[in-house]
Amino acid sequence: MKNKIARNIFMMIGLLLSSCGESTPSFSLFIYNSKDTFINELKKVILHRTDSEYDVNIQYAEKSQKTQMQQINSALEDEQQKLLLVNMVDRLSASAIIEKSLVNKANVIFFNREPLLDDMDNQTNAFYIGADNSYEGELQAKLAEDIFGNPNDLNPKYDKNGDGKIQAIILKGELGHQDAEQRSAKVISQLTEDGYDVDLINTYICNWSRAEAYNMMADEYDKIKDSVEIIFSNNDDMACGAMDYLIEKDVFKYNVDVSLQPVQLLGVDGTDVGYRAIRDGYMYGTILNDAQKQASAIIDAINYFENGTSMENNPDYEVVKGNYIYIKGSAITYDSLPEEYLMNNPE
Ligand code: GAL
Ligand code: CA
Repeated sequence: MKNKIARNIFMMIGLLLSSCGESTPSFSLFIYNSKDTFINELKKVILHRTDSEYDVNIQYAEKSQKTQMQQINSALEDEQQKLLLVNMVDRLSASAIIEKSLVNKANVIFFNREPLLDDMDNQTNAFYIGADNSYEGELQAKLAEDIFGNPNDLNPKYDKNGDGKIQAIILKGELGHQDAEQRSAKVISQLTEDGYDVDLINTYICNWSRAEAYNMMADEYDKIKDSVEIIFSNNDDMACGAMDYLIEKDVFKYNVDVSLQPVQLLGVDGTDVGYRAIRDGYMYGTILNDAQKQASAIIDAINYFENGTSMENNPDYEVVKGNYIYIKGSAITYDSLPEEYLMNNPE
């Protein structure tokens, strides 16, 4: 009996000692810009779902790839970090990051800013997780179709000049960013494919930024105000920048049904500011850039590298050639605003 108790005590001491020796697993999180609204919401979800188990070291590059490369080198070399989550500034730096990581026996999960297939093909230490941007463009087109109705007989309330065509502008994110390029191309090609005649008046590059979109509207709106019928924005922040200007100029009416606004506005992301613009009757709808599902896939990839758990057979995504995962979004309008948003943000 005495022996058994003594043995148990020894075992417990042993366990305690070994758990003291084990350090908490960790990863480094590299973010291209600390001021990006969607990235901040995605980061919050990732941290919320990992910080009980991982030490997370966050670094912001403030749009400088040079800064980010220094941060990555220091994580790999000085801190011997073995797992990197990277939101690249410049998509073309993926191969340098993959190679550096391989040399240091580390793994990389790229997210939101997509590496080229040439860099991802045939490697074994990296994943990419991002939005299915072409599908987002398709869904944005479908919202426009709900607004304008029959392509052969457009709703006269929205076809303001009655020419049977949709006069549109695009507020575009960063030039060369996969989401900006695909969303812009697909929204127009989908409408055309579905029989709509789109007259694209102009595409304005506003780099995902609310302030840039506001300034762009201040410079350009007078030239387009008589013709524009709908604004396709690549994200909610730029849509909100346009909204800010249109409210200021009394173009957007206060406290009315969105169908009464003289210009229709569509975004992408489903950030809190986007939901608010919908709730307040300024924006018709947005396409969810699903931060929850993207974070889940990122965590699956963390578990794959840390514990060898499989990435196959997931209902929300498949892993395609080059270890890419694209998460599908969904359309959101006033009637489908998430309960959780409405509860946390009462009017
Ligand atoms: C896009 C998102 C934008 C911006 C960008 C940053 O997916 O829609 O709002 O966050 O990523 O790379
Ligand atoms: Ca028209």
